[in-house]
Amino acid sequence: MATDAEIAAMRHALELAARGRRSRNPQVGAVILAPTGRVIAEGWHHGAGTAHAEVDALSHLGADGARGATAVVTLEPCNHRGRTGPCAEALISAGVARVVYAMDDPGEHEGGGASRLRAAGIDVEGGVLQDDARAFLDTWLTTRRLGRPHVTVKWAQSLDGRAAAADGTSQWITGSAARADVHRRRSEADAIVVGTGTLHADDPALTARDGDALFPNQPVPVVIGAREVPDDARIRRHPHAPLAYPTRDLDAVLDDLTERGLHRVFVEGGPTLASAFIARGLADRVLAYVAPTLLGGPRTALTEIGVDTIADQRLLSLEAVERLGDDLLLIAVPRTAGSSLPSASAEATGLHTHDSTQAPRGAHTTHDSAQAPNDEHAALDSTQAPSNGHTTHDTAQAPNDEHAARTRAQPPREEHAAHHPPQQPSERGGAHTPGQPSAAHDGIARMRAAHHTSAEGASS
Ligand SMILES: NC(=O)c1ccc[n+]([C@@H]2O[C@H](COP(=O)([O-])OP(=O)(O)OC[C@H]3O[C@@H](n4cnc5c(N)ncnc54)[C@H](OP(=O)(O)O)[C@@H]3O)[C@@H](O)[C@H]2O)c1
Repeated sequence: MATDAEIAAMRHALELAARGRRSRNPQVGAVILAPTGRVIAEGWHHGAGTAHAEVDALSHLGADGARGATAVVTLEPCNHRGRTGPCAEALISAGVARVVYAMDDPGEHEGGGASRLRAAGIDVEGGVLQDDARAFLDTWLTTRRLGRPHVTVKWAQSLDGRAAAADGTSQWITGSAARADVHRRRSEADAIVVGTGTLHADDPALTARDGDALFPNQPVPVVIGAREVPDDARIRRHPHAPLAYPTRDLDAVLDDLTERGLHRVFVEGGPTLASAFIARGLADRVLAYVAPTLLGGPRTALTEIGVDTIADQRLLSLEAVERLGDDLLLIAVPRTAGSSLPSASAEATGLHTHDSTQAPRGAHTTHDSAQAPNDEHAALDSTQAPSNGHTTHDTAQAPNDEHAARTRAQPPREEHAAHHPPQQPSERGGAHTPGQPSAAHDGIARMRAAHHTSAEGASS
């Protein structure tokens, strides 16, 4: 049983972990406690190729400085000799008496550190603040376990669940606070994804803006669908050259984004593409921005997600509810805690191809009123993708009169002088400029063929 001092140290270790660079390695923090519970050293993993957190913390102590101490680490100490040597051995050599860690290392080679420590006679306790550690590392865990990016699907909707009015206009369903929240979340993503329907309907800029300024981190704009990116599309002026995938094969797109090191994917719709991600079990987190307005009509926030009967419903756990001005943001993950499982029937029909062995995410059960779900029913995969309704994305302006502003189309602002042709990635992740013959063209053609023969259940 972890002591109060150890739990406090674990919280601090999680803060330390966040100081590390995001890379293909997990961000990990460590704190060394004297037998009295006093903090005597701390460390974190600074990024691939540098010392692991435990070793970084131990490096601040003298030869016998950690003898009899307790090491508190956010991830199970590794047991493999990579570029930096096994952390389990470093802790054994340092003479620590106890190791407390938050979550097991899921790595095939890295895991097993706890057993090695126990075999050396060290008292080991895992699972301390495990849910916090998992939530912190969700992107890394998704990539590690499923071999694909962590996907957040976001949409903005009216109180009656519509993503647009009957004529397709949807700027602005939500208010300025919600739009600002979307931009902030965009800035934390590596890629921002829309379907060609949204591209043509809204001509989004897909930048992440803080008021009138651009956030330092800009997600790469990604468009999925067969239709061309128009020459005058605003995303051509994005700081990053857009990626255009003329396909409906979402697995292929995610594979390519993984190859490119784009691990945090934010899907901003529209309804058809968002539904396709959910139907395929590729949504790890859902963000619904709900505005107190009614639109009626046929344009629902989601369309076909493979739920024909209530047994197939995609049960979610509510992670958070935030009030943003007049709007609400609801953040939810699949009920199966951290897994990206499809519904039972989707699995039976082979619609889900990704590995679903992801370990459970911490239970976030705020809303469990829904009846008795079996875990088999928790099909929605969660990945995050926050952003507000599609076109929200394109204006950072906060109208004084929210109601008036929401009913008024605003002209797009020219933000960037650069003009990029979209890249069309090949199967191997190579970029291609449309209109120019290249090897990438072959890849695109094959992706199209795959789309035509796919049983993916596209909803358009
Ligand atoms: N409220 C919101 O949050 C929000 C957000 C975005 C958009 N919107 C609104 O939504 C409307 C556009 O909706 P939409 O559903 O047409 O747009 P969409 O989801 O952005 O685009 C649909 C298109 O995506 C392509 N696609 C790529 N992969 C697919 C797959 N696996 N399955 C099916 N289609 C795939 C297809 O294009 P191809 O036919 O070219 O292959 C399909 O026609 C507009 O009115 C827009 O204003 C609202």
